[in-house]
Amino acid sequence: MGDPTMASFQLRQLAAADAEAFRELRLAGLANAPTAFGASPAQEAAVPIDTLRARLDASPNAVFGAFVEGRLVGVAGFFRHEGEKHRHRGVLWGVYVDPASRGGGIARRLVEAVIDHASRHVLILEAAVSVGNEHAGSLYRALGFEAYGHHVAALMVEGELIDEKLLRLDFRR
Ligand SMILES: CC(C)(COP(=O)(O)OP(=O)(O)OC[C@H]1O[C@@H](n2cnc3c(N)ncnc32)[C@H](O)[C@@H]1OP(=O)(O)O)[C@@H](O)C(=O)NCCC(=O)NCCS
Repeated sequence: MGDPTMASFQLRQLAAADAEAFRELRLAGLANAPTAFGASPAQEAAVPIDTLRARLDASPNAVFGAFVEGRLVGVAGFFRHEGEKHRHRGVLWGVYVDPASRGGGIARRLVEAVIDHASRHVLILEAAVSVGNEHAGSLYRALGFEAYGHHVAALMVEGELIDEKLLRLDFRR
C-alpha cells in the first residue's frame, strides 16, 4: 500500500533535542486516539521536558521518528524491561502517525526500525493492541508478531473498559 502523491519521509532515532517536537506529536496522538494508548494526555503533559529529554537519551531505550519536510509526523518507541530477570524482554510502544501522513508506509518503516533495534537488545519484543484496532494489529502481525494473550479490561477510557490483544515477536525463532 502507499499513496504515491504523498511526500517522501526521512526516518531517524530521536535525540534529546527532539523532545519538544516529540511531546507535541505524542500529546496529539493521545488526544486523537485515546483508546490506542495506555497513557493519558494529562499524565503525559505533566512529564517535565527534562525528563522527556533524558528518556530520549536512555539507551537501549529509543524512539524513532519520521519527518516530512523537517516536521515530525510519526513515532514509535522501544523500551527494555528493567531488572536482571526481565531485561531479555522489550516493548514496542507509542506507535503514532499524524492523520495527514497515514497510508504511505510510515508506520511500517517505524516499526521495522524498532524491530531492528530491539533485535540487538532483547530476545522478545512485546506489543499490546486494543481490541478493534485492526489496522495496527494487522501491521504488527505482518511484521512477525504473534498473539499470545488477551488482557481483559486492560484500559479504562472515559469509563469504558477496553481489552488488549497481547502480541510478541520472538527473535529466537
Ligand atoms: C496505526 C497507524 C500507526 C498506521 O500508520 P500508517 O503510517 O498509516 O500505516 P502504514 O501506511 O505504514 O500502513 C501499514 C499497514 O496498514 C495497512 N493500512 C494502511 N492504511 C490503512 C487503512 N486506512 N485502513 C486499514 N489498513 C490500512 C496497510 O495494509 C499497510 O500494510 P502494507 O505495508 O502491507 O501495505 C496510524 O493509523 C495511527 O497512528 N493510528 C492511531 C494510533 C494507533 O492506533 N497506534 C497503534 C497503537 S498499538
